[in-house]
Amino acid sequence: MKHPEIEKRIQDLLDRMTLEEKAGQLNQSGGSLVGAFDLSFEELMTMVQDGRITEEEAHKMLSDAKHDWHEDDLRAGRIGSYLNVIGAEEMNRLQHIAVEETRLGIPLINGFDVIHGFRTATPIPLAESCAWDTDLWQRTARMSAEEATAAGVHMTFSPMVDVSKDPRWGRIAESAGEDALLNGLYGEAKVRGYQTDDLTRHDALAACVKHFAAYGAAEGGRDYNRVDMSPQRFEEEYLPSYERAVKAGARAVMPAFNDLSGVPCSVNKKLLTDILRTRWGFDGMTISDANAIAECINHGIAADRRDAARQALNAGMDMDMTSGCFLDHVKELVEAGEVSMDRLDEAVRNILRLKFELGLFDDPYRSSPEQEQAAMLTPAHRALAREAAQKSMVLLKNDGLLPLKADLRIGLAGSLAFDRDEMSGTWSGGYRDGDGRSIQDGLDAEGIAYQAVREDQPLPDCDVFLCAVGERKAESGEAASRASLDLTASDIALLKRLKESGKPVVAVVFAGRPLCLGPAVECADALLMAWHPGVEAGPAILDLLIGRVNPSARLTTGLPAATGQCPTLYYDHIRTGRPAGVFKYTSKYLDAPVTPLFPFGFGLSYTSYRYSDISAAQTSDGIHAEITVRNTGDRAGDEVVQCYFRDPVARRVRPMRKLAAFEKVALQPGESKRVAFDIPNAAFAYYDQEMNLVTDDGVIEIHLGGNVRDTLQADVDYRHP
Ligand code: NOJ
Repeated sequence: MKHPEIEKRIQDLLDRMTLEEKAGQLNQSGGSLVGAFDLSFEELMTMVQDGRITEEEAHKMLSDAKHDWHEDDLRAGRIGSYLNVIGAEEMNRLQHIAVEETRLGIPLINGFDVIHGFRTATPIPLAESCAWDTDLWQRTARMSAEEATAAGVHMTFSPMVDVSKDPRWGRIAESAGEDALLNGLYGEAKVRGYQTDDLTRHDALAACVKHFAAYGAAEGGRDYNRVDMSPQRFEEEYLPSYERAVKAGARAVMPAFNDLSGVPCSVNKKLLTDILRTRWGFDGMTISDANAIAECINHGIAADRRDAARQALNAGMDMDMTSGCFLDHVKELVEAGEVSMDRLDEAVRNILRLKFELGLFDDPYRSSPEQEQAAMLTPAHRALAREAAQKSMVLLKNDGLLPLKADLRIGLAGSLAFDRDEMSGTWSGGYRDGDGRSIQDGLDAEGIAYQAVREDQPLPDCDVFLCAVGERKAESGEAASRASLDLTASDIALLKRLKESGKPVVAVVFAGRPLCLGPAVECADALLMAWHPGVEAGPAILDLLIGRVNPSARLTTGLPAATGQCPTLYYDHIRTGRPAGVFKYTSKYLDAPVTPLFPFGFGLSYTSYRYSDISAAQTSDGIHAEITVRNTGDRAGDEVVQCYFRDPVARRVRPMRKLAAFEKVALQPGESKRVAFDIPNAAFAYYDQEMNLVTDDGVIEIHLGGNVRDTLQADVDYRHP
C-alpha cells in the first residue's frame, strides 16, 4: 500500500538521480569470492560443471573464501542491493558506505534465502506443511525473521508457493506439497510471520514470493525445465497460491527460471504486469532469479544481454539479481528510447518504496554483533524447532511396535541415524555444522541404551532395530532432480538384513521429497517419514517413538509406489473417460498401480478416529458441511479433518476431489467433536473453454474425512446464487 509521505520522498530522490544512479538501484550484486582464487560464483560453478574441480573442492573453496563486495562500485552508486551478506558487522560496514559515501546516501537492501529457519533450522517446508497448522507456520517464520534480521538480512526469498506435483523435482522440498490451497495458506502464514504488520520493526523481514509462476510444473520434474499448460489449469491450480501470498502483503515477488508456454517468466509481461500489477494491484518490488535475465539468451528469446535487459524491464522486472544486464545496459536502452524513462522510474520507485517501508532511510543499521549473538539458537528457538519437527513427521505404518516400550535394547542402523548435519535439509544457509541433533543424540539424551549396527559386523544382540534410511540434504532442493525415487540398493539391503534377523524393525526415512517406500513397508514393522526435520531432529523423533508425543502429521503429497507414476500421482487429477479398472483398456500401467502407496492427507497416530453423521446444505454464501469425529482410542490426539468437494457433471472435466478446507482438532480419548466447514461459492467456480469463470447448478459432492481416500460423502443440490 502506498503512503503519500513515502511517495513524496521517493519523488524527491528520483528528481535528483542520474540515469547511472537509477541503473545502480536496479542492480543486486552477489559480490565475488576471493581467497586462494579470484572468481565469481558463476565461474566457480562452470569449473565444477566442466570437471576442472570437484564439487567437494568447490565447497572447500567457498568456505575458505572471502567475499569481495565490489566496494568501489558501491561507492559509485552502482549497487542497490546485495545478495547473501551475512553478519551484522559486515552488513553495517557495507551499509555505512552506501549511506555515508555515496552521492545520494541511499541505503542497501540485503536479501538472503531464509527458507526454513535461519541458524535454528526448522523442518523443510514440505515437512512443515504436513503439520496442516497455519499458526505453527507463522510462528516458525517469526523465529526465522528474528534470527535473520539480527544477522543483517532485510529480505528473504521465501515463501516458495510453487504447487509441486512431481517428486522427481528436487525443489518439492521447498514447497507445501501438491495442493493449491495448502501452498496458498502456507505462503500467507509465512508472509505474516516474516513481515509482521510493521515493516519498520528491526526484526521484520520483507517476504519475496517465488517462483512466479508454475515452476513446480517443470516438465519431467527436471529443474529449470519448460512449463506448458492450459490457461484454465494455470488459473485454477497454479496461480491461486501466489495470489494468496501476494495479497497477504508480501512486498516482493520473484519470477521463475522457467518459461511459461514459451515465454520465460523473467520477460513475461502477462505475469509481471498484467496479472501481478494490474489484476492483483501489487505495488511491491519484482526481482529476477539469480542470473535469470542473462539466461534469456540461453532460452533463445534474447539476442544478447542488452536485449535481455530490454525485454525484462519492459515486461515489468524491477531488480536484476546478479546478472549485471540492467547495470550495463539500462542507460543506453533509455537513451535509445527502447525502455521508457517512465518504466525505469517505476522500477526505481518500487525498489525505493521497499527501502522506505523497511525504514532503512531513517534507520539503516538494524542490528549489531551483540544482538546477533543473542538472537541465535536460543533455548526457546530450539523448543519451537522441536515442536515443529514433532508436528511434521508422518507415521506411515505401525504394527503395534510403537510407542516403544521402556528398557528395550536398541540396535541403531544406517549412517543417517548418527548424522547431525544432514538433518537441516536443503537451503539451510544460516545453519552451522554441529548444531543439529541426530537420532543417536536423541537416544543419548533419553538415556536409552543402543548398539551401533556396522555393515561389516554381526548384528548386535538387541530387542528392536531402529534404522535410518533415505536422502542426504544435497539430494533434494535446487538442481537436485531425480530420475528414480527408489531407496538406494544399500538402504534396501540393510532393511532386508535387519528383517531377516527376525527382530522388529522401526524405519525412519529422511528425505526432501516423496520416495518409493515399498521395501521399507515390507521390511519394517513401523515406519516414520521424518523428512529433513531440522536441528532438533533426534529429540523430536524420540518424542514420537517413545510416545511422549502422539504423531499428528498428514501427508501433503501422495507417496509413490513407483517412479513411473509421476507426475500423475496427485490427488486432484481430473477424471478420464476410462478410469483405471480390471479391464485392460482403462487408464493404468501394466507394471504399477495408479494409486499412491500412501494417499494425500494420510497419517497414523497412536489413537484412532471414527467419522459419522455427515451433513451438507447450501447457504447463501456457499455450502455448509458438518461431520462428527470421535477419538475411539485411549490416547489424546490431534486429527486433521479434511473437507473435499467434487463437481460430478461440469462444462470442463473437473478434479476427482478438491481440498476446500481443513481443521485440526484436539480430542481426548472418547471425546467427540462436531466439525463444521463453510465452503464459499467462489470455490465452485472454474473456467470454461472460453476462459469465462462459471459455476454449475446441480449436485456438488462433499467428502469429509481423515485423508483423501477415506471419506464420508453428502450430496448437495446446488444452485448458483
Ligand atoms: C536461485 C533459486 O532459484 C532461488 O530460489 C533463490 O532465491 C536464488 N537462487 C537466490 O539464492
